[in-house]
Amino acid sequence: MESMRVPEHVAIILDGNGRWAKKRFLPRNMGHAQGSKTVERIIEDAFDMGIKYLTVYAFSTENWRRPKDEVDALMKLLRDYLKTCIKRANKNNMRVRVIGDVTGLSEDLREKIEQLEEASKGNTGINFTIALNYGSRDEMIRAMKKMAGDLLAGTLKKEDITEDVFAEYLDTKGIPEPDLMIRTSGEQRLSNFMLWQLAYTEFYFTDVLWPDFNKKELKKAVEYYNGRERRFGGI
Ligand code: IPE
Ligand code: IPE
Ligand code: MG
Repeated sequence: MESMRVPEHVAIILDGNGRWAKKRFLPRNMGHAQGSKTVERIIEDAFDMGIKYLTVYAFSTENWRRPKDEVDALMKLLRDYLKTCIKRANKNNMRVRVIGDVTGLSEDLREKIEQLEEASKGNTGINFTIALNYGSRDEMIRAMKKMAGDLLAGTLKKEDITEDVFAEYLDTKGIPEPDLMIRTSGEQRLSNFMLWQLAYTEFYFTDVLWPDFNKKELKKAVEYYNGRERRFGGI
């Protein structure tokens, strides 16, 4: 087989948990539970394939508008996931980071996130990033406010603001821009995900619902990526 170029950073908008459950006459929360298992599996698959950075969009700043019991169930899943994640991260040499406005999450979740980031920061295997209470516009506004603070404090000069400097103020500081973005469930929009970081990323859309996504589907996305000729504004 021809050798494949593996994208360094794959970002995923995991979507379709609710529809997956509906198709089976199950409550939406069962779709989320299944979807969370898929996340765990796909990290290992991505690592096996040589992907260095994997980012998943797990909860958006807009997702608070969902019914309270669904939000509660999602937060509970998150809590359970973070609990097992510390052990898993060290076993698999995985570095875990969270992007998004963590100040909007409950105290105990914030603590767990901090522990997890701290405990895994020396790990050199796959870099796994979870976008939680994440919205790209919100991220940019928070970056802007921090920048404004530094400008007023005099630690940043207006003349020194460049794209690279701005990127340093984003939650994704230190993480390379995604090479490939995947969205499952047939929707073809960004839903406020990494608007700055995806400027030159290849997009792959599939009808597969997130709980059904697997290594074979991930390989298909990477094959698609291989068929694209990457351009950065040149000819
Ligand atoms: C994605 O699945 C998971 C989250 C956004 C938390 P959805 O819950 O959006 O599933 P659908 O789109 O209703 O099928
Ligand atoms: C996007 O999915 C957000 C996440 C995957 C966390 P949604 O299902 O919430 O997005 P919309 O509402 O269809 O745009
Ligand atoms: Mg959805």
